[in-house]
Amino acid sequence: MKGNVVNAVRGKPRLTVLGTGYLGASHAACMAELGFEVLGTDTDAARVAGLRRGELPFFEPGLEQLLRRGLDSGRLRFTTCYQEAAAFGDVHFVCVGTPQLPGADRADLSQLRACVATLAPLLDSACLVVGKSTVPVGAAAEVAGELARLAPAGRAVELAWNPEFLREGSAVEDTLRPDRIVAGVHSGGAEAMLREIYAQQIAAGTPFFVTDLATAELAKSAANAFLATKISFINAMAEVCEAGGGDVVLLARVLAADPRIGPASLGPGLGFGGACLPKDIRAFLARAAELGSGDALGFLEEVDAINLRCRARMIALARELTGGSLSGRAVGVLGVAFKPDSDDIRDSPALAVAKAVHGLGARVTVYDPVAMSKAREVCPELVYAASAMGAATDADVLLLLTEWPEFREADPAVLGKTVAQRNIADGRNALDPDNWRAAGWTYRALGRPAGRA
Ligand code: UDX
Repeated sequence: MKGNVVNAVRGKPRLTVLGTGYLGASHAACMAELGFEVLGTDTDAARVAGLRRGELPFFEPGLEQLLRRGLDSGRLRFTTCYQEAAAFGDVHFVCVGTPQLPGADRADLSQLRACVATLAPLLDSACLVVGKSTVPVGAAAEVAGELARLAPAGRAVELAWNPEFLREGSAVEDTLRPDRIVAGVHSGGAEAMLREIYAQQIAAGTPFFVTDLATAELAKSAANAFLATKISFINAMAEVCEAGGGDVVLLARVLAADPRIGPASLGPGLGFGGACLPKDIRAFLARAAELGSGDALGFLEEVDAINLRCRARMIALARELTGGSLSGRAVGVLGVAFKPDSDDIRDSPALAVAKAVHGLGARVTVYDPVAMSKAREVCPELVYAASAMGAATDADVLLLLTEWPEFREADPAVLGKTVAQRNIADGRNALDPDNWRAAGWTYRALGRPAGRA
């Protein structure tokens, strides 16, 4: 195809990454690591200034080293200027946020629309725009329409959709060695360009799926809906275990031994949070309803409800352990991040429980290895300790809410000396109940028998 980006590019394609949040910063640093010249572009001047200094605005294992290596090599640069990005890039990765719209379930596409509206009029030569943001099905078609309407280079500007499946805490590994690559394309030229960009991953055996744009968008929504459903399934089983006297941890192990089920995302406990699963299932359901297929995804409402009930059940367990009332009681909270290896507290089940317990009149002292400063910003009413021991000091009950390794490895005898009462509620099934009970603790977890004190 004459005039397309494959014919226009001589040598290695030059990449821009538009939006340098979690997804964009990871993608930019990893693509530079793989040898591409990358220009990260963001309208947030403070964020760009930090990235230029090699500072990430969030905690992600291994990513800051990659960022610094990219900057030192000269292959990775950052700008706030879309003109510069448009002039530089052969391929533009759109990685802007698509958060939940306040007061509604659907996704807020304003960042995506603003990005395309700014970029498109600047595209005066052949290039490929690649959407990576998680979007409701149909958004890519809208973006394609906007590019066709606004880009001076007309049909030489193409759109592809290439959803990102990375997990926080393992973003570098997931980007460099993904378990699959999805290329939603309109043309062989776009497919060829994406194959070239991901040549190293494809050579290493990563499956590469070529789809239409809608299937690529759905691949991400459906994957997150499935993961959320699996987590809520096991947490629903925990509720039944509580009623029927079973042990959900043993049950999960038995289920996971069936290769058709498997152990991933089958961990019972406090449920899912973070910037993706909760808002993605809501946006998926809202989009399906708009399309007239809301009934097909009605079960996601139940998935969401089961998940939110985990938090309420955890609060009830804390109350039970303090004799029926949390008012005036001292509660030590271990972990506020939505998962370990992350400082992300967006829709964190752990922080939601800590806040609610404080709201019920408890004195809540929190410790998290990395999420303290972010938590303090949004929840200044909680007390922040410098260590797990600090959070445990004089506590009537300890709540383990994020399964950081240092909490898993905590010595119940040592912690037992500092608390007022040896009560622990393990929100992540991270501890060995026998160990804790042997050290004189009342150990409780959702979906597990109360055991002997
Ligand atoms: C998720 C998807 O896994 C990823 O593919 C997608 O790109 C973005 O959303 P992430 O939010 O980083 O990634 O975390 P994930 O590891 O999936 O965990 C999500 C939440 O579920 C966390 O709060 C975690 O604690 C919880 N969880 C996970 C469980 O409660 N039980 C489990 O078995 C697994």
